[in-house]
Amino acid sequence: MTTCNLQIEYPDKSCVLDQDEEFFHVVTDDGQERIKIHEYDRVYDIPGLYEEVVYNRLQCDSPQVISDLLKDTLQDHGDGQDPLRVLDFGAGNGIVGECLREAVDTEAIVGIDIIKEAKKAVKRDRPEIYDDYYVMDLSQPESHDEEKLNNWNFNALVTVAALGFGDIPTQAFINAFNLVNNNSWVVFNIKDRFFSEDDETGYNEILQDMIGNNLKVYKKHHYCHRLSMAGEPLYYYAVVGRKEVNF
Ligand SMILES: C[S@@+](CC[C@H](N)C(=O)[O-])C[C@H]1O[C@@H](n2cnc3c(N)ncnc32)[C@H](O)[C@@H]1O
Repeated sequence: MTTCNLQIEYPDKSCVLDQDEEFFHVVTDDGQERIKIHEYDRVYDIPGLYEEVVYNRLQCDSPQVISDLLKDTLQDHGDGQDPLRVLDFGAGNGIVGECLREAVDTEAIVGIDIIKEAKKAVKRDRPEIYDDYYVMDLSQPESHDEEKLNNWNFNALVTVAALGFGDIPTQAFINAFNLVNNNSWVVFNIKDRFFSEDDETGYNEILQDMIGNNLKVYKKHHYCHRLSMAGEPLYYYAVVGRKEVNF
């Protein structure tokens, strides 16, 4: 993909903000543009910007961590099943799809994101990664969208860095969980606070319920997802499990 020749200015390390408030400046001939990391439409529109800020500067390694955990789990518990038909939910500009293709045997990877700029960035930067990519809102999926997705016969759901923080709401995650077959691999990461009693997003409640009744967990790994702009580690849980029944 295009390499990044952008001039980016970062706030002083003393500027401590919650993740969804963090920003930087892109310097152009016309002046400075202030962009929040979570303004994904604006970030994806500039080739290489997401990779430079999130992966190089803030050292995010989650797509690789998640792919490697899935690979290890398949080696230990995969019982020689079919290659994976993966739904990458909140796929963004395709880095997760790229890592999954390298790490595990896939028959198909399909991306979904809620914004069209993500699909545009995938077409521009990683056109060969996804078998299809849909711009869809799974909070209240249309029946024709559900039908389209069911035709993929998914046996894996992967969601990286997209739960909580005003991104994927709990109902959309539940709908995606219910879209994949029983026995599917379900792999996701989530900020540790959202998977604890301090959670205010609703995720802790549904995950605890799911794990008790619908999802058998094989790995739960606490790790540094990325650094904050102030240089502090931001810890997430990565979870690999297998769906038992619909939620
Ligand atoms: C931090 S990015 C992560 C992108 C990618 N998974 C990665 O790890 O590089 C979060 C992504 O979730 C998407 N997103 C937010 N809300 C969503 C929703 N309700 N349904 C689908 N995608 C959503 C955003 O548009 C964005 O592309």
